[in-house]
Amino acid sequence: MNRESDFQWKVWGARLDPLSDLLSTSSKKTIFKNRNVLRSDYLPNNLPHRWEHIRQLGEILAPTLNNTRPSNVFIYGKTGTGKTAVVKYTFKRFNEETIRNNLPLKFIYINCRMAGTEYRVLTELCSSIGQKVPFTGLSKAEVFNRFVSGLSSSNLMVVVCLDEVDILVKNFGDDLLYELTRVNESLNNGQVALVGVSNDLMFKNMLDPRVLSSLSEEEIVFHPYTASELMDILSERAALAFNEGTISQDIIALCAALAAAEHGDARRALDLLRVAGEVAERAGAQKVEEKHVRMAQGIIERGRVFEALSSLPLHSKLVLLSVVLAIKNGNEITSGTLYTVYKELCELLGIEPLTDRRTSSLLSELNMLGVLDCELVSLGRYGRTRKVFLTLPLDEVIGVFEKDDVLSNMLGYVPTSLKKRNT
Ligand SMILES: Nc1ncnc2c1ncn2[C@@H]1O[C@H](COP(=O)(O)OP(=O)(O)O)[C@@H](O)[C@H]1O
Ligand SMILES: [Mg+2]
Repeated sequence: MNRESDFQWKVWGARLDPLSDLLSTSSKKTIFKNRNVLRSDYLPNNLPHRWEHIRQLGEILAPTLNNTRPSNVFIYGKTGTGKTAVVKYTFKRFNEETIRNNLPLKFIYINCRMAGTEYRVLTELCSSIGQKVPFTGLSKAEVFNRFVSGLSSSNLMVVVCLDEVDILVKNFGDDLLYELTRVNESLNNGQVALVGVSNDLMFKNMLDPRVLSSLSEEEIVFHPYTASELMDILSERAALAFNEGTISQDIIALCAALAAAEHGDARRALDLLRVAGEVAERAGAQKVEEKHVRMAQGIIERGRVFEALSSLPLHSKLVLLSVVLAIKNGNEITSGTLYTVYKELCELLGIEPLTDRRTSSLLSELNMLGVLDCELVSLGRYGRTRKVFLTLPLDEVIGVFEKDDVLSNMLGYVPTSLKKRNT
């Protein structure tokens, strides 16, 4: 009797409780000690191979400690080269020093991509010096004035980092930068220095020469990391993130080499390491192995495709959806069929279709993105047409549309133009 109920319980424990193995933390050896250390917003205490950059920025900003306004700095380099980490690290150290010595000085970090608009950048500036402004409702000029008068009344020197400033300028022009580079002229008390950071190396060409010359009084360039530099960065993080014996130097070297072969992007390298660890953990493995890294690569790649496709403009999505529907319904896709289906989808949504020519150029863009392939074929005396092939797996592309609020409903739709050709 006893034995029987024991048996029952084991069955329940092992098989019928869908969560038991997930919830028992004590017996399970996990891969990670602290996986958050591998996330991109984690700021490490040490930044290998960036000491020189930190030093350079520190030397430029050092005059602030003697109440002298520093030069403006312009920092640029590709993504994942440590720009944000270096600025945040340096600002943190300077802010600590400022507080220790009670100086009228502030180092303010703003990410322009996250802020989104000039107005939001301005309100963040105001709130960081203790000026209250509403989220909406005031004019930009009014918010700017409040920032200036706040500085003036508190006699404060601020060093403002506008990170990813290229995105702000692409969307709104360089007016705000212009105003900020000139603000010292109108201030009797208080001063502003700027640290502009850009991922886009061509950003300089977008700026008015006057803005450029005052923003880039000093410049710091960040180069992509080499494989051995990435190896050092990953090793330090891995020691904090993984439990002992779960990750080997070989695996770290593999992640470093794969990321270096692409752009020398530390974010990619860290992502690879984290996702490989997650794959290993989910597989119940004792340690991370090469196959887990390879799988992680696939997962990250698919994530990137997903992101690229989900952020396409509506009409590009409709062109792609037309391709998907044609394939689903067993039709060969020529540019002619595609346009007919596309127009039908537009009608269904009650929106005006673009011209044949415009959709043709959207098709070329999708081609360049690597989503589909176009082949020019001759129809003999009937001229030429473009045949279209999907280069990504169909279910992956369908997966993108399934997550789309508007277009997911149309996946089951059979366009009339395709029905006719089928019969
Ligand atoms: N030298 C470094 N040492 C340690 N971690 C780094 C280093 N450089 C970059 N990282 C990490 O890589 C990721 C990307 O760096 P980030 O500073 O955001 O790059 P960027 O701003 O140039 O795009 C972050 O998680 C950052 O902490
Ligand atoms: Mg950055």
